[in-house]
Amino acid sequence: MSFPAQRPRRLRRSPALRRLVAETRLHPADFILPLFVREGIDAPAPISSMPGVFQHTETSLLDAAEEARDLGLGGIMLFGIPAQRDAHGSAGLDPQGILNRSIRAVKERVGDDLLVMSDLCLDEFTDHGHCGVLDGTGSVDNDRTLEIYAQMGVVQAEAGADVVAPSGMMDGQVAVIRQALDDAGHHNVPILAYAAKYASAFYGPFREAVDSQLSGDRRQYQMDATNRTEALREVELDLSEGADMVMVKPASAYLDILSDVAQISDVPVAAYQVSGEYAMIEAAAANGWVDRRAVVLESLIAIRRAGATNVLTYYAAEVARWLQNKDTTAPSSSAPHS
Ligand code: PBG
Repeated sequence: MSFPAQRPRRLRRSPALRRLVAETRLHPADFILPLFVREGIDAPAPISSMPGVFQHTETSLLDAAEEARDLGLGGIMLFGIPAQRDAHGSAGLDPQGILNRSIRAVKERVGDDLLVMSDLCLDEFTDHGHCGVLDGTGSVDNDRTLEIYAQMGVVQAEAGADVVAPSGMMDGQVAVIRQALDDAGHHNVPILAYAAKYASAFYGPFREAVDSQLSGDRRQYQMDATNRTEALREVELDLSEGADMVMVKPASAYLDILSDVAQISDVPVAAYQVSGEYAMIEAAAANGWVDRRAVVLESLIAIRRAGATNVLTYYAAEVARWLQNKDTTAPSSSAPHS
């Protein structure tokens, strides 16, 4: 009988050994917590398809931001839900609109210890729910939308956003936002570009989270799930336009894209574990079908392992608390196996 000369199992024998040789680790600073703030409500409103996630009031948002800071998160990503919407999304341009005044209020509360990022898109502000303004045929007018994005970027930077994150997938958006920020003296505000953003059914619960008015879909501007090479083109374009960081979205069903992008990107790569990814884990866990904490950690490990520097996730605060308590053993149990 011949015995194996190579025994990879040697390094798996104990938690201490596995910890020593772990190739991927999670740290609170890796995570960015998306937060929703809704105008005109006086108590946080639960989002039924995302158990544990709320539309914040302007006050509860500040507490959530403070908690994110105290947990040492990498940042928060703010989404605003205005009381009034119109065809042009004007509430997004109003310095006193819900998103912009919340950026200001959060920055006042948390100071420089927490990065405040803002979603730069029109879909929360338009009455038709599209990410830009419409032309005569009902399509999103790319170039007129760019003009609005440029102004939005400046208004958000002026409100104090540390990073702006254009998520509308308009062609040329990074270039016009960079130019507008520079012209207004905000040359130090980085752009986190949603570079490879797919038209995805995994955004379903987000529609409830922002009370989206969208009928139809975003397939004329977000990427088609069938395409892999095209993601590299989108990333290269955004890099050439001046993106400081690029994002892949969604995450779990697009780990191949994330891995490809990490290979070619010379700037940090973020990935967004989106609302539907969260909802699926929550639903399975609520039924007792999976071990919630283990699955959450494994999903985040996988996203980091595929190449993400940072992960936007609704689990950010909870995972940071687990990490503080040293519950870092991701999918494995603590007992050594024989
Ligand atoms: C657009 C935007 C969306 C999400 C983040 N930014 C919605 C969309 O593109 O349809 C989805 C995030 C999620 O599902 O968690 N402003």
